[in-house]
Amino acid sequence: MQARYTATARGLHWLTAALVVVMVVLGTWMTVFEPKDEAFKYQLYDWHESTGFTLLLLTLLRLGWRATHPAPPLPADLAPQLRIVARANHAALYTLLVVQPIVGFLATNAWGFPFTWWGVVPIPSPIGQNEALAPVLSGIHWWGALLLVLLVTLHAVAALWHHVVRQDGTLAKMV
Ligand code: HEM
Ligand code: HEM
Repeated sequence: MQARYTATARGLHWLTAALVVVMVVLGTWMTVFEPKDEAFKYQLYDWHESTGFTLLLLTLLRLGWRATHPAPPLPADLAPQLRIVARANHAALYTLLVVQPIVGFLATNAWGFPFTWWGVVPIPSPIGQNEALAPVLSGIHWWGALLLVLLVTLHAVAALWHHVVRQDGTLAKMV
């Protein structure tokens, strides 16, 4: 049997996948389908911000785990170009999982809202209110979310292609 990801890596992967879905649903709900009830809308913002910050911490933990527990190899017969695409997409996903919550946090600060993780741990603002920077950061956060959704879609389609078309055991490494 070929090497699988460790149970910790698999657990963190699927927890991350679930939380990314939660993040995109909450983000879209609170902005695009903005609830009329202001108190509920701010509740959604709180959940989005605290869940996103949790995701950042999980990603840092996951990167630390990966550095000490190497990933199993890609299929030996995979074309060199596809190896590059797979590795680049994984690297881009990790980068976005770190950058996107940080940008969201900075945008929150720049619009003048302090952020307290789950209403308990105050996270000090490195920039403070900044009306010139706020729309720029929000713009980056919007494009970051779109890019993340596109790359995750590509990633999931690739995983299914490995499973259904190539039948090379790639998906089995992660379940
Ligand atoms: C938000 C959703 C997701 C994110 C952010 C994500 C992220 C990642 C990342 C960063 C890796 C690289 C792991 C490493 O080598 O360190 C990975 C691997 C993997 N993911 Fe996902 N993933 C998501 C959803 C999914 C879904 C829906 C599937 C299946 C349909 C899937 C299947 C896999 C598989 C099979 C691997 C192992 C790839 C290999 O070893 O070549 N992922 N994922
Ligand atoms: C991977 C983590 C995250 C994802 C996938 C994500 C995704 C999204 C999405 C899809 C939206 C709606 C589209 C938009 O208006 O930009 C949004 C909006 C927003 N997010 Fe996030 N977000 C993440 C983390 C965070 C964090 C950690 C914070 C703050 C601590 C945050 C603060 C905001 C704010 C304030 C908005 C409202 C629009 C704005 O001012 O940019 N996000 N997010």
